[in-house]
Amino acid sequence: MDHSAIAEGNVAVITGGASGIGLAVGRALSRKGMRVCLVDLNQLAVENASGTLHGESFGAVADVSDADSLSAVRDAVVARFGRVDVLMNNAGTGGGGPTCFSGADEWKRILGVNLWGVLNGTHVFGPLMLSQRSPGAIINTGSKQGLTNPPGNPAYNASKAALRTVTESLAHELRAIEGCEISAHFLVPGFTYTGMIARSIPMRPAGAWTPEQVAERLLAKLAAGDFYIICPDNEVTEALDHARMQWNLNDVVHNRPALSRWHSDFEAEFRAFVAREADPA
Ligand code: NAI
Repeated sequence: MDHSAIAEGNVAVITGGASGIGLAVGRALSRKGMRVCLVDLNQLAVENASGTLHGESFGAVADVSDADSLSAVRDAVVARFGRVDVLMNNAGTGGGGPTCFSGADEWKRILGVNLWGVLNGTHVFGPLMLSQRSPGAIINTGSKQGLTNPPGNPAYNASKAALRTVTESLAHELRAIEGCEISAHFLVPGFTYTGMIARSIPMRPAGAWTPEQVAERLLAKLAAGDFYIICPDNEVTEALDHARMQWNLNDVVHNRPALSRWHSDFEAEFRAFVAREADPA
């Protein structure tokens, strides 16, 4: 049985919905009879995308880093459908990214979309969803880079690490509201072949999942009531993900140098740890 917010006639709003994971989730929800509003930056792209959905769905233009443009989307959704049952704060931006010493404008742009976009979505749609006093789901899309912090992309990693804490706090706050039937969920895709990736890699690499695989796993894990929805891919197993996350946390517990996974003194130890934890056979 699906999450109780996912039901025929219910309404979903998905940011970053014109492409990739957001669009795949939109299609999956519309196939279940939900009315879906896909939100994205470009009018034509979002209209084309919503045209591929079933039933009464539509596309809306907004920049998630701008709360006012999301408020206008909320008003349009309420005027058309009267409610919102599922909010997926999924829009994200990557790119090469700045360093810790430079690129203030890039830091602001990436945090503006990846972190503030999610906060804006929650601030704008959250009160409406709470006022409905009915089952709901808020799904925020994070990244493994926010969990393990690989070197080279600190702004993206920081934005996605912050999303983990924000989404955990949201789940806790929702749990504490009496009678509230809205749950929060943290989706962490693995390597997925989407618009973001296609810009630099023209064909889907064998290691990548399709966005449809992520959507399918998301719906199954929502149905199971899971908060952390971590996706493997065709190269990285769940056990390998667990070992990498565990190693990262153990940096703190064992007082190792930061990011010891990428420190030459710990190379052999990391390899042995992963072999033991992820492939015990
Ligand atoms: P995508 O590029 O296919 O889709 C992202 C969509 O977000 C695009 O349509 C883009 O126009 C939209 N967007 C970007 N900035 C926006 C803004 N300011 N306002 C509104 N829309 C905006 O990429 P994908 O992979 O589907 O990305 C979805 C989410 O998944 C992102 O948050 C990304 O960080 C995350 N993710 C993706 C992974 C992958 O391997 N593809 C891995 C881990 C996380």
